[in-house]
Amino acid sequence: MIKCDVGSLAGHHIVPKPLFDIAEKNLKKAVEKGVINNFYVFNAGDDLELLMVHEKGEQNKEIHKLAWDTFKECANKASKLKLYAAGQDLLKTAFSGNVRGMGPGVAEIEIEERASDPIVVFAADKTSAGSFNYPLFRIFADPMNTAGLVIDPHMLCGFKFEVIDTKENKSIILKCPEEMYELLALIGTVGRYAISRVWRASDNLICAASSVSKLSLIAGKYVGKDDPVMIARAQHGLPAVGEILAPFMHSYFVQGWMRGSHWGPIMPVGLKSSKCTVFDGPPRIVALGFQVANGQISSDDEGNPMIADLFDDPAFALARREAMQNACVLRNMGEFEPARLSSEEMEYTTIQQVLGKLGKRFKPIR
Ligand code: F6R
Ligand code: MG
Ligand code: MG
Repeated sequence: MIKCDVGSLAGHHIVPKPLFDIAEKNLKKAVEKGVINNFYVFNAGDDLELLMVHEKGEQNKEIHKLAWDTFKECANKASKLKLYAAGQDLLKTAFSGNVRGMGPGVAEIEIEERASDPIVVFAADKTSAGSFNYPLFRIFADPMNTAGLVIDPHMLCGFKFEVIDTKENKSIILKCPEEMYELLALIGTVGRYAISRVWRASDNLICAASSVSKLSLIAGKYVGKDDPVMIARAQHGLPAVGEILAPFMHSYFVQGWMRGSHWGPIMPVGLKSSKCTVFDGPPRIVALGFQVANGQISSDDEGNPMIADLFDDPAFALARREAMQNACVLRNMGEFEPARLSSEEMEYTTIQQVLGKLGKRFKPIR
């Protein structure tokens, strides 16, 4: 999965059709040339999401270039159409082989295909890297969420988590259940630490990966939120699809929302509601399920990838309702903490320009 905000319709709302068409055209061409095996293009709000299956391994130059060139072409089209914030996430100009650190978000896993390999991908809008810490912990470490941790003998070994310190650019691997408390001590600080990978402990089988780049740290200022993506493998000795979705029965709070400066309740939605509106939110998340077979997203007889829109389900209506109730509670507080992020988190937002102007007017108190 490689994603990018290339510009959107009506503020930071959705990716409009002409940009989808460019992505579809380029990825179709890449299939014809044998660069990728197949793909699915979708949006999380104003973020264009390229889900690609290929056999070139992680961080492959050709794949990253395909994504980069596609985002560039979309951004040019967005400029021509005078869409909003055209090329928003394209923070660097010269492509040198990898989109990491250039603005787009990336989650990649290299797998040996199992007899049947169900995969769930998540994409969120108006929120930041670190927003998947909570569900990833619930899915792979919390036996109160994932019955398999108790019931499936293949999962009793536990899981290993790679955590990135986004400020110091360092990583650490912690194993659960043994180091569960240490893991929580880190990943509860969602603004700084982000789970990037999860492996099954017994055989190091890769189970999950998420994008952890922080746009504000790349750009040195606020340029829109990271809007992260995550890939999780399911079933047969791994958490079931239903266990992967269970953390989303309830809404939880994430950083982002209006101007990337607020706590907001995440709202699990189907693709038709993958668009942010009120107060530029609330932050949305979509979950798509599919099977990988013979190096492809399993497709129907017409060659169309078969995709399950997992949050398009009344089972998540309660979470959506909770999200709106909590959204109202927070918005009643206006610009007072904890509705607004802490001053440390506001460091990379435009509020610094506002506060900077006041600096000289402060006088020492005698
Ligand atoms: C959040 C986001 C929006 C904008 C807001 C102001 O990630 O993108 O909430 O921050 O709409 O946008 P500008 O400054 O472009 O008018
Ligand atoms: Mg945007
Ligand atoms: Mg976005």
